[in-house]
Amino acid sequence: MSDQPSSKTPVRVPLGGRQDVRLEEMGDLRRTHGCGEVGTAQVGEEIVVAGWVHGHRDHGGVIFADVRDHTGRLQFVFRPDADAEVHRRADELRTEFVILVRGRVVHREPENVNPELPTGKVEVETTELRVLNAALPPPFPIEDESGVDESIRLRHRIHDLRRPVFQRTLRMRSELAQAFRRSLCDLGFLEIETPILAKATPEGARDFLVPSRLQQGEFYALPQSPQIMKQLFMVSGFDRYFQIARCFRDEDQRADRQLEFTQVDLEMSFVGVDDVLEVLEEVTWRACKEGAEVDLPRPFPRMSYAEAMMRFGVDRPDTRIQLELVELTDLFVASEFRAFRAVVETGGIVKCLPIHDADELSRGDIDRLEKFVRKELGAKGLAWIRVTADGSWQSPIVKFLSDAEREAIQQRTSARPGSLIFFQADQSERANGILARLRVDLGLRLGRTDGRSWDPLIVVDFPLFEREDTGGLTYMHMPFVAPMDEDLGLLDSEPEKVRATHYDVILNGTELGSGSLRNHRADVQRRVLEIMGYTKDEMETRFGFLLNALEAGAPPHGGFAFGYDRLVMILTGAESLRDVIAFPKTQRGQDLLMDAPSAAPPEQLDELCLRVVRERKEG
Ligand code: AMO
Ligand code: AMP
Repeated sequence: MSDQPSSKTPVRVPLGGRQDVRLEEMGDLRRTHGCGEVGTAQVGEEIVVAGWVHGHRDHGGVIFADVRDHTGRLQFVFRPDADAEVHRRADELRTEFVILVRGRVVHREPENVNPELPTGKVEVETTELRVLNAALPPPFPIEDESGVDESIRLRHRIHDLRRPVFQRTLRMRSELAQAFRRSLCDLGFLEIETPILAKATPEGARDFLVPSRLQQGEFYALPQSPQIMKQLFMVSGFDRYFQIARCFRDEDQRADRQLEFTQVDLEMSFVGVDDVLEVLEEVTWRACKEGAEVDLPRPFPRMSYAEAMMRFGVDRPDTRIQLELVELTDLFVASEFRAFRAVVETGGIVKCLPIHDADELSRGDIDRLEKFVRKELGAKGLAWIRVTADGSWQSPIVKFLSDAEREAIQQRTSARPGSLIFFQADQSERANGILARLRVDLGLRLGRTDGRSWDPLIVVDFPLFEREDTGGLTYMHMPFVAPMDEDLGLLDSEPEKVRATHYDVILNGTELGSGSLRNHRADVQRRVLEIMGYTKDEMETRFGFLLNALEAGAPPHGGFAFGYDRLVMILTGAESLRDVIAFPKTQRGQDLLMDAPSAAPPEQLDELCLRVVRERKEG
């Protein structure tokens, strides 16, 4: 390594009206350390680091500059009585300038030690400084606790990504991907890519369409998942496939949903449900351990869909929260309480959420909760019963209840002085949804958790079909899920009772991924599609190539897909997928950095034989 300055003539660049800045080349000077790697072990050594000026200050002529790279921050000192030229250049430094610096590591004076900074016991007496590039002032400080509005962070994503939290998150994302690859390869899986320009793969969302120039008037669909393609691999004899796959779903955005996202997708041949579950437990455990240093408790407990819905009101319960719902529907079939009986008569349910020792929740809290569930969750009301210290019941509904009903409620909820019970009477989806939400919100607020950090859970025995608003049956997860062998006989007689070979893996109350065995027999696949209302023609147009493949000798097969972004979100404790994806979309589906989507030039539309007939709605 040479320490000669670059032979190229330094250039001076004007910077936003400020004084010119003289730039230099790296020449042969190369870094010896990452900024965060320097500590007391390096005292006395000469080091070179490169990075961004994180901050700089002048203390009576002595200039201090913090240099930052992906490993951390390190303080450099520029003294006027050392090299005058280096000191003069240091005076020109501004935040986010890109520099290469050399110097000798020394102990900081005891009073200058910064315990907050891993490198805070040392500093570097600078001997050489090269300004490699200038920078405009950053839109916000490059700190973890930026407190800056998200839309500003997304617009200035470059600066946002420089924050240490993002440096850590994206590093962990990479390590987790490598850990998944290693564990799947060790189990004999092949990594095979599938096309992005493809045909619709139904996963319950809208497709993104891409117009074809060569086949005018026709469209590719971006894959909602590689589902059909991975099934074709099994028919082609690849036996074990995986891919870290990009998926596209045009659905409403939420904190845990993005228009494009990543799955760790896998498929296996000649397997039953337990074989796949065994593999996915091993792979999840190992990837979390090696990629994120998280040791998930094993084995992952299993729970049926019916039990999860009954006890927790959702199919992805966080079982660390020690509150459970109680079923009361049968009590109100012939009740005098009309509001509840009417709901039961129209096929609805009555359930409640008992919370013991709930004195902390005031009457004002209850009123606020009622307002919230009515306004935000579409509830019809929020009936409640509070058992006071003397054992009497305070409640807006107690006057409507018979003694027998009171007795039954008391027994089923184990109500006692201090208990507060919230009721929902509604169609099952809404009643369960509202109580499930209250369970989580109040469970967390009242600290009713069991203290475990990690709560993996496998949910099984889902129904194959669900009823549409229009009355017909549709798939609950996707159209290719195989029914359980023992329920095949119900396909014709009672399709709603048919259980699917579907399974979900839940981590801390979030659905991490899902999978199933697939229909490998064309006749069963056709029958399932028929029950969902597909005509023979529709089946052939939409899924003909899959049905043909099944007739070409398809082995029994099944698989799984992890929501990769969701896993990173849970493991890092992030609140939104936008905090674990480098360039995410906003809730309105926009990329604020690139300003996408944007209008297409007329020539391009012309070439594709497209015309925009409706202007984009603003606002
Ligand atoms: P599924 O549709 O359940 O199954 O998707 C699997 C996992 O992908 C994640 N996920 C998402 N993550 C971010 N943004 C989204 N919009 C989004 N949608 C889904 C979730 C989900 O659990 N082909 C099947 C898998 C299989 O059966 O093998 C599938 O895609 O974490
Ligand atoms: P009402 O007789 O309509 O004033 O209701 C009495 C109490 O029952 C109020 O506290 C309402 O919030 C509550 N309530 C009414 N309908 C429902 C329902 N479907 N589910 C839960 N609570 C309800």
